[in-house]
Amino acid sequence: MNLLKPTTLALTFALAGIAGAAPRATITSATFGTLPGGRTARLFTLTNAHGMQAKITNYGGIVTSLRVPDRRGRLGDVVLGYDNLASYVKATPYFGAIAGRYGNRIAKGRFTLDGKTYQLATNNGPNHLHGGVVGFDKRLWRATTRRTQDGVALDLRYFSPSGEEGYPGNLQTRVTYTLTNANTLRINYRATTDKATPFNPTHHSYFNLTDGGRTPILDHVLQLRAHRFTVIDNTSIPTGELRSVVGTPFDFLRPTPIGARLKPKGQTESDEQLRNGSGYDHNFVLDGPRGQVRRIARVVAPKTGRVMTVFTDRPGVQLYTGNFLDATNIGKGGVPYGFRSGFCLEAQGFPDSPNHPSFPSTILRPGQVYRQTTIYAFSTTRR
Ligand code: GLA
Repeated sequence: MNLLKPTTLALTFALAGIAGAAPRATITSATFGTLPGGRTARLFTLTNAHGMQAKITNYGGIVTSLRVPDRRGRLGDVVLGYDNLASYVKATPYFGAIAGRYGNRIAKGRFTLDGKTYQLATNNGPNHLHGGVVGFDKRLWRATTRRTQDGVALDLRYFSPSGEEGYPGNLQTRVTYTLTNANTLRINYRATTDKATPFNPTHHSYFNLTDGGRTPILDHVLQLRAHRFTVIDNTSIPTGELRSVVGTPFDFLRPTPIGARLKPKGQTESDEQLRNGSGYDHNFVLDGPRGQVRRIARVVAPKTGRVMTVFTDRPGVQLYTGNFLDATNIGKGGVPYGFRSGFCLEAQGFPDSPNHPSFPSTILRPGQVYRQTTIYAFSTTRR
């Protein structure tokens, strides 16, 4: 017995030592850079108890890096982006950003609301895209940090004055990024206005679960819980038709490699919809009760075993397969992001909803509180 005592003690101490050293979620911040005009943007580092790490700047609410484990436990960055603020300011196809007020397109930048016609910037051919010339993705947000029950959170606040980018109403917005100890990045949105306005924010990370953008994402296996998609014209504006995915290249009801029905670069797609989008650049009509957070997508990278599962309460999600990436954006570590080296799953209301009364409304009115929850959850699979 006497002999056992010290052992027991030692064991107790060892266990206490392990418990004491058990990693806790942390959130730190550093200067990211100076914007033209002199304001400073910060870069926040959120690390969870398992070492998963998100770096997020209050410039555009951009997730600049997201390190998640592969099937062997090795952390790797799974989002496209830049090393420095200047590159984001110079030119970015919305890498990792919060898009708003209206994520996605509004036809000809025009809509009529409560009897008044508004004209927004046309910054995408004939159409308005992602909030205009200086959208939410290019704004400096007010940032605060806190611990939550399940991880660490970054609260970003932005006040969008009436008339900004042509939109009506003074809009108070808040976007909260929470990195949880369950390896999820949760995004909560909240907004109020003093005059009716279209409002449809989304998150625009480009994911590549293999290597963060060195190689194409065509082998990623996608499952999407959507029986229909919004048909687009050749300027990517919905015609109003909700078409069944069955028997089309848009059927991801069963897990299917993203590239299975895409032609290589330079070859013309025979499917008119893939032609119009230059690949997948379409809104899917999500199954299940909208307004409730539900699992909508699962993506597996066969080479690394990384799995991303997406949950949202929105009615739609834009699948964009990086069709406009052409190696001109030189990203982190000097990597030129080539054709289809990243994919986006942008949870949202349908594109151009202000001009389609049959679509779920994207109008926020005084007295209402806009809320959205979208979750990107990470895990691994053996095969
Ligand atoms: C969105 C659009 C695409 C493209 C990208 C940014 O996802 O739907 O057409 O404009 O943003 O390049």
